[in-house]
Amino acid sequence: MTAGAAASLSRLTIDQEEAASASGSFGEDVRAGLSSSPKRLPARHLYDAVGSALYEAITLLPEYYLTRAECAILERYAGVILERVGDAEIVELGPGNGSKSRIVLEAALRRQQIVHYHPIDISASALQVLAERLVAEYDRLVVSAHCGDYRRALLARRPRDDTRVMVMFLGSSIGNYERNEAVGLLQSIAMALRPGDALLLGVDLKKSRQELELAYDDPCGVTAAFNRNVLARINRELGGSFDLQRFRFLVAYDERRACVDSFQESVVDQRVAIAALGMHVDFARGERIHTESSYKYDADEIRAIARDGGFSVDAAWTDAAQRFSVNLLVRR
Ligand code: AVJ
Repeated sequence: MTAGAAASLSRLTIDQEEAASASGSFGEDVRAGLSSSPKRLPARHLYDAVGSALYEAITLLPEYYLTRAECAILERYAGVILERVGDAEIVELGPGNGSKSRIVLEAALRRQQIVHYHPIDISASALQVLAERLVAEYDRLVVSAHCGDYRRALLARRPRDDTRVMVMFLGSSIGNYERNEAVGLLQSIAMALRPGDALLLGVDLKKSRQELELAYDDPCGVTAAFNRNVLARINRELGGSFDLQRFRFLVAYDERRACVDSFQESVVDQRVAIAALGMHVDFARGERIHTESSYKYDADEIRAIARDGGFSVDAAWTDAAQRFSVNLLVRR
């Protein structure tokens, strides 16, 4: 090991949640979700190594405007955001490949001598790569990474001294939660913070059905592959017998709920076995598995969930086309 590599490793820790709680929950979630009616699978299981790589490809698609819009906002306002928050430790839920994190971290490193960064992610592979790259690249960055479930990680993180904390939850991942669950998650974040601490929340805004359905069902089929991978993952990890040709990917925007719903739909009557769970699952032709919700918000609704979650909106920024918003919430 070179001296440089050793010096960067001393600024890096990665802790992993109990293997049982991390991987055990996949099987149990599959059992529960495919036994329920209508059938469903939690969206967080889309992100194994293959799913994380496919999601990264999605962020490059011209139809998937979310990532580009959010990056543009952060590029433009990261300095202003940190000015409002002041010097802080940065906790991030679901940094993925860290392309957005970097924008904020670089702005923080411009003001602070040392920046402490705590990424929390369910994907061990993505987290390890990110954490190692960041400490190698930025010599004034200290990274304490945690692999596991957001809520458990937040519970383990009691506020310690009087260092200000800014939590980042970007990418409109809040949209994957039902409204009441979104408020519950904000409350969990609030519990890990002290009054005056901040939450930087990226939220996708309501827009036309056409734009949304194109963003979530791209003509190249990358999103279809990303979504279908959850069935392939059941085959790989749980000895499932899903024939992927016998399902089709389906996306529909429900305007009343302002939610893009994604599904795998069975194209025939069929029975699928899942060896590791000792179960089989029957599908009627046309029956669906709900695989993801992506809720869309407007400014009033963002204020409402912030308030119910224990925060108030201090400031909000949008991109030039008003597609996406980055909101600075303050813990009350
Ligand atoms: C990463 C959760 C924000 O809902 O937009 C992208 C994932 N799903 N295309 C989203 C996703 C389909 C995504 N989030």
